[in-house]
Amino acid sequence: MGLSAHPPATVPAIDANGARIPRMGLGTWRSTHDEGVCAVRAALEAGYRHIDTAARYENEQAVGQALAASALPRDEVFVTTKVWHTELRANDFRRAAQASVARLGLDHVDLLLVHWPNPEVPLEETIGALCDAQRSGLTRHIGVSNFPVALLERAVALASVPLVANQCEYHPYLDQTRLLAACSRHGMALISHSPLGSGKLLADPVIADIAQRHERKPAQIILRWLMQQPGVAAIPKSSNPVRIGENLAVFDFELDALSMARISALARADGRVSKPAWHPEWDTPANPLVAAKP
Ligand code: A2P
Repeated sequence: MGLSAHPPATVPAIDANGARIPRMGLGTWRSTHDEGVCAVRAALEAGYRHIDTAARYENEQAVGQALAASALPRDEVFVTTKVWHTELRANDFRRAAQASVARLGLDHVDLLLVHWPNPEVPLEETIGALCDAQRSGLTRHIGVSNFPVALLERAVALASVPLVANQCEYHPYLDQTRLLAACSRHGMALISHSPLGSGKLLADPVIADIAQRHERKPAQIILRWLMQQPGVAAIPKSSNPVRIGENLAVFDFELDALSMARISALARADGRVSKPAWHPEWDTPANPLVAAKP
């Protein structure tokens, strides 16, 4: 793939415990096969330098194919993958991480995450295996995903090398004040997955109003709200090249304090969209008004 003759503006990055994480990345859940290849190619063309995948998405090969086809040097793209929660025993973990890196066609990833916690496997064993994956060169950095505060604290205490990120659902309908504070305390980034609430937020009237005032798309308003929070990165998923470009074009405008506050006030008790059967006990909203709202 020949990249555009006009190199896109550089995406700002977060410095998190030694990792430089581009603040906007491409989410690829549900982008498989050719659709996955096209989405990653479109993202790299548009200027994304952060691609998020997982063994569970069954698209690591497609992501790897798009990376290989790009003319970009390997160290210019930040690639994340994740180990599924049924693979958290030490031997399973090592094999799963090796298989992911091989499917991607890489010799290492930039960030390896525990996809979900699993109470059936001692966390000591999983975090030990995660640290070993970094020591053995399979990944440059390590972190967790979908870890609420109490589990995050345990993971940080168990890790012999610093965790750099906790990837969790975060968007205006979901108050993550407690988690943001915990990540910040430990120098970690909070990488927002489902930043558009899997699309649910796009029709919100407050977002629509702010979008109209700024002559921007609703998705850009939501992503800009995330980008104005220290330590927060986001990985919106899209398989549409126009929307992929739109989602990155949020670094040339600003939301004022009132707009930020109006968007934050959208948080509600039922705002979470990702609720698989194996989810851990979530943090309660820091704001009691959110818990009380329908
Ligand atoms: P599509 O892939 O057709 O663009 P999230 O990242 O919160 O899970 O949201 C992903 C969903 O939002 C997908 O259905 C995606 O659809 C849609 N989406 C992503 N970016 C945009 C955008 N800029 N405008 C409208 N819908 C979007």
